[in-house]
Amino acid sequence: MRIIVLTGAGVSAESGLGTFRDKAGTGIWAKFDPMKLATPEAFAADPAYVHAFYNARRRNLIEATPNAAHLALARLEEGLSARGAELLLVTQNIDDLHERAGSKRVLHMHGELLKARCARCGAVADWCADLGVETPCPACASEGEMRPHVVWFGEMPLGMDRIEAGLMSADLFVAIGTSGSVYPAAGFVFEARAAGIRTCEINLEPSDNAHLFDERRYGPASEAVPAWVAQLLAGA
Ligand code: NAD
Ligand code: APR
Ligand code: ZN
Repeated sequence: MRIIVLTGAGVSAESGLGTFRDKAGTGIWAKFDPMKLATPEAFAADPAYVHAFYNARRRNLIEATPNAAHLALARLEEGLSARGAELLLVTQNIDDLHERAGSKRVLHMHGELLKARCARCGAVADWCADLGVETPCPACASEGEMRPHVVWFGEMPLGMDRIEAGLMSADLFVAIGTSGSVYPAAGFVFEARAAGIRTCEINLEPSDNAHLFDERRYGPASEAVPAWVAQLLAGA
């Protein structure tokens, strides 16, 4: 059996990391203008401001711990591989909570908050404390070229070839904690359906594309995900 799971900000919400959009209008993009923080143009215009935003999110992340949903997905990966089955965990999140919970195969399609990338040579390095505009690239020594290794609006997400291959060959596609409002991730359910793959949504409330899922489970991820994983592994 091959399962592909897509997670979004909702899976890290109970670890204290904010989501981007929610009905109450308290998401990150209600407080900050993404067009001033999450685009290449924003970084070119004011790199210090963008670095400060991601440094603050990095400090929050260091304080955060994986919740029961992250731990359950790590158990799922282990349980499936013990049965010769496979899990591909694709996340839109830039935090490292899936890895800290024990997940081994994590595909960060929007990059990683704890990594920086040189805009000149493309080298990716671990984020050093409070990386700033003047931090030289560890590979080509250029100054002022290090940016967050994060995919911004208008940029191509990472790992799309592996994700597309997974969406053609999986037996089950499960979206967890994502609003289904940003493409291409929001379109994965269409591709899964077209490939005849069963689909399931696990979220706090129905997402923008909830009607496209065969199965829908609602509740906080820290409760709904462990329950789903236990049921799946019992029946696997
Ligand atoms: P896109 O054009 O598919 O995303 C546009 C979406 O961004 C909109 O549907 C809306 O949900 C959101 N958006 C745009 N302007 C907004 C605003 N002013 N207020 C609130 N929300 C707003 O995305 P893209 O341009 O193709 O970006 C490519 C990829 O980069 C996307 O998958 C995106 O999710 C990702 N990204 C990552 C981060 C990050 O911090 N990791 C930030 C931005 C974008
Ligand atoms: N348990 C489960 N789901 C939750 C919880 C929770 N405790 N709290 C919130 N949610 C759900 C919300 O109902 C919402 O549907 O998580 C979803 C979060 O949606 P978004 O904030 O839009 O986050 P996401 O879908 O990951 O955003 C996609 O947009 O700005 C870009 O790159 C950014 O990766 C992000 C992308
Ligand atoms: Zn470089």
